[in-house]
Amino acid sequence: MQIIRETAALREALAALRGAGGTLALVPTMGALHAGHLALVAAARRRADHVVASIFVNPLQFAAHEDLSTYPRREASDAALLEAEGCALLWAPDAAAMYPQGFATTVSVSGVSDDLDGAARPGHFEGVATVVAKLFGQVRPDVAIFGEKDYQQVCVIRRLAIDLDLGVEIIGVPTQRDADGLALSSRNAYLSDEERLAARALPRALGEAARAIGAGEDVAEALAKASARLAEAGFEPIDYVELRDAATLETMDVLDRPARILAAARIGRTRLIDNLPVQPSP
Ligand code: PAJ
Repeated sequence: MQIIRETAALREALAALRGAGGTLALVPTMGALHAGHLALVAAARRRADHVVASIFVNPLQFAAHEDLSTYPRREASDAALLEAEGCALLWAPDAAAMYPQGFATTVSVSGVSDDLDGAARPGHFEGVATVVAKLFGQVRPDVAIFGEKDYQQVCVIRRLAIDLDLGVEIIGVPTQRDADGLALSSRNAYLSDEERLAARALPRALGEAARAIGAGEDVAEALAKASARLAEAGFEPIDYVELRDAATLETMDVLDRPARILAAARIGRTRLIDNLPVQPSP
């Protein structure tokens, strides 16, 4: 697996890969890879002939008070994992290669970015959309793979790809979880043992609410119960627990079409997010 840090070298390596024929998949990441990321690489391999992964801890998507400086960085072991998973190329630019002097463009996807994590983390999705638009421009993949763990992010990227005619097919991969249900996340490393145990309440509360709503229980009541369970487990503050249209993320008061229950809450100093599908019963 080649590791490339400069755009000129990337262009050459991609030309060589493309010269070999076949389709190309991109898996964008910020590194500190776990089995969730590797499931994206496995999905990429099923979808395309060549897999390019990127590792770039994108300063644009972190607010000033967030964890940019402490975000885990372990490129050498990440590279070994990607190679073992069958990646052909790792694109790992530094901030100067990604945002050269004078960089002045922001990509903003309105509507789908506006609330939930967009409200809790102002500027976050502009940072994500801007870097992903750049990654698509740099790599020009046929398909790009994203995790449903960051469900709103997938919705934002789908909109971006359609609106800017980027010609990239966006694939969402189901959330990979630990045995106790907690969604794998690089940020789980911040949890103390006690917080890690309490964090199990997040997937459990969402699972219960999803089942209850699917079975016809009142949406507002089920969401309130889930919030109460999170509060009992020690989550504070709870940014949101909401039922949304699975495609547009519009609010839903009754389950009359495919939906998603989404939550974000802080335990100790760590903010966790999770979501699950909710289907109306036939
Ligand atoms: P990062 O948090 O590193 O995640 C990279 C990809 O892995 C995202 O598509 C994310 O949804 C997916 N992922 C993370 N945990 C997962 C899990 N438990 N199961 C399945 N997929 C999982 O998301 C980002 O980086 C950045 O915002 C990025 C898209 C790279 C832009 O900077």
